[in-house]
Amino acid sequence: MAITYNESGKIFKLDTADTTYVIGLSSEGYVGHIYYGDRLAKEADNYLLRMEEAPFTPSVNKREKSAFLDFFPMELPTGGIGDYRESCLNIRNEEGRMGCELTYASHEIYKGKNKLAGLPASFGKEGEVETLDITCRDEILGLEAVLSYSVFEKENVITRNVRVANTGSQTLKVEKIYSACLDMDNENFQMISLHGSWARERQIQRGPLHYGKQRVSSLRGESSHQEHPFIALVTPETTQQQGRVYAMNFIYSGNFTAQAELTQFDSVRMTMGINSEEFCWILDPGEEFQAPEAVLVYSGEGLGKMTRSFHGFYRDHLIRSAYNHKKRPILINNWEATYFDFNTDKLLDIARTAKADGIEMLVMDDGWFGKRNSDNCSLGDWTVNEEKITGGLKHLVDEVNKIGLKFGIWMEPEMISPDSELYRAHPDWAIQIPGREATQSRQQYVLDISRPEIRDYVYGCISKVLHSANIEYVKWDMNRQLCDMGSIWLGRENQQELFHRYVLGVYELQERLVREFPDLLLENCSGGGARFDPGMLYYSPQIWCSDDTDAVERLRIQEGTALIYPLSAMGAHVSVCPNHTVGRVTPFETRGHVALAGTFGYELDITKLSEEEHKIVQEQTKMYHKYHDLVREGDYYRIASYRENHYYDCWAVAAKDKSEVLVTYVQVLAAANMHSRKLRLDGFDATADYRLEETGKVYTGEMLMKAGFLFKDFWGDAKSRLYHFVRV
Ligand code: DGJ
Repeated sequence: MAITYNESGKIFKLDTADTTYVIGLSSEGYVGHIYYGDRLAKEADNYLLRMEEAPFTPSVNKREKSAFLDFFPMELPTGGIGDYRESCLNIRNEEGRMGCELTYASHEIYKGKNKLAGLPASFGKEGEVETLDITCRDEILGLEAVLSYSVFEKENVITRNVRVANTGSQTLKVEKIYSACLDMDNENFQMISLHGSWARERQIQRGPLHYGKQRVSSLRGESSHQEHPFIALVTPETTQQQGRVYAMNFIYSGNFTAQAELTQFDSVRMTMGINSEEFCWILDPGEEFQAPEAVLVYSGEGLGKMTRSFHGFYRDHLIRSAYNHKKRPILINNWEATYFDFNTDKLLDIARTAKADGIEMLVMDDGWFGKRNSDNCSLGDWTVNEEKITGGLKHLVDEVNKIGLKFGIWMEPEMISPDSELYRAHPDWAIQIPGREATQSRQQYVLDISRPEIRDYVYGCISKVLHSANIEYVKWDMNRQLCDMGSIWLGRENQQELFHRYVLGVYELQERLVREFPDLLLENCSGGGARFDPGMLYYSPQIWCSDDTDAVERLRIQEGTALIYPLSAMGAHVSVCPNHTVGRVTPFETRGHVALAGTFGYELDITKLSEEEHKIVQEQTKMYHKYHDLVREGDYYRIASYRENHYYDCWAVAAKDKSEVLVTYVQVLAAANMHSRKLRLDGFDATADYRLEETGKVYTGEMLMKAGFLFKDFWGDAKSRLYHFVRV
């Protein structure tokens, strides 16, 4: 039993293999947080709720109720009634007054897990997950809130979500609804978060937690390049292998807030949810609102264990694509090869040359439709440009298939160019504030896909394209962020629902797509990696990680991404040098080794490679087939970080049964007059011996992990090598 309830103590205990989460009820029925941490073997107690200390609970000491509420560790704190820390639920009544007080009404414990209406969410069969629903009520508002906890024992993951229902007779405004809250005592915490920009996504930041509120968030309508729906609080000694880590990630692709607040009493409130800025949901009597799911991971053994919990969880309980556990075809994408300057002949040349080198799929990127010869027009006009694609799309796809390659296509379905047939016919389909000139970004507007008829139109376009030829892959792009948040379809009171309704619209479209085309390989993308989040992973098993394909820059981007997301999900390609984003020249081999830590593919004009480079591509495509089952399914260990040491990077992927370990080492900067570099490896069976395939030398797993392995100094910068250890 992963979840137990102690009736006399009114204590819920949620156990995973290595962790325990404990919830307790006060005599008034407040739902309090008692503990989250290493697994407790015996029954839990509720003394940590400090109800026997002043100011005592309100039923004992009513005159200091606010003092109580302002320090009691709440599972879902509400706003307006005397808890001055960050609230998770703010409800305004019909008279315009804000206040909500939730107390326990009932609970249910069941095997399995329910779907979340309209939202991506984790899943699991009976035997894999157990759920606790605590129903709370505010009788004055006529509001019911269900705090739902799902326990994935094996993965050491607990997910949370909240659903509110208006069971009264007045219209309520949900002005804020977060999905998770963790009230803890400070352990001298440091906070880890991910930051960046276009082409510089998910850079890891770690620093001390200060008094006040430390927040990462997005108001861009997507999870964003800039900040990421993830935070972790860690004890100061935390490394890959030691330290306590409390992490949260959000299964949502829109505006979010993730925050840690260090309070006057040295307690910490960690929260995560939809960003409450520019959010307000009208809840009429009888209606419900479902908040997205947050994923909680505790690790008592450092960041490495946290990472492996997230990876395993997402691979087995979030990504549902048929491709999840399958080898993906090695693709070549024509974006960096041609940008908008291509035609049927050029694409077929690329396909023929690619085939000879072992590549398996051609992806036609932006520029095949309408009059699109640059990024200034035609989004929304999803008909093939026959001046470029002579003979039409089906002809092109058939020819590519005859060469022996699969075919994939790029689309940006959520957008509309001011210079498009669609915009000329429906200027009111763009999100805009009437009377104010809408802001362009990449010379495009965003379609108001909160409107059902626009969703139907958009879906119709996608479906028609996919039915018109044998298209086996779609890259779904999204190249601008949202602003001018006005919808002519929504009423005055509902305008602040638009950000969330937009995200629900994206989810509905992708749901329709993967249902109608279950074998399609879908890759999400947003100007690189601005929508690399768990919400998108529910629909697509891989997401384009970044428009920066430089092998050195990618080390940091992929380290930050792999802190949470499995390597199987990270879109990574080999591109040409000098690199188009940073101008750096790196060895072809290194570009291959770095892309191997992701989905692996190419993004270059293969017809222009030298004979020597073709040979390398042929070796690399073989390398992919040799190692990708391991990379996709194995356990990831971060060995060294170039981000931290500025010289070298190293990671390992170990088979689940530890029968083989693949180590990648990148020497970013050569150092003069150095001996070999000794690094302690990880992921091996300490009782087993391993043969290093490249040399035949046998090492003990124990020595590799406890004493280390020697990485020889190579001549030159950005050199890399793979080390394949096989158990003997
Ligand atoms: C942004 C993507 O990240 C690129 O890979 C490419 O598809 C362009 N958009 C096309 O406009």
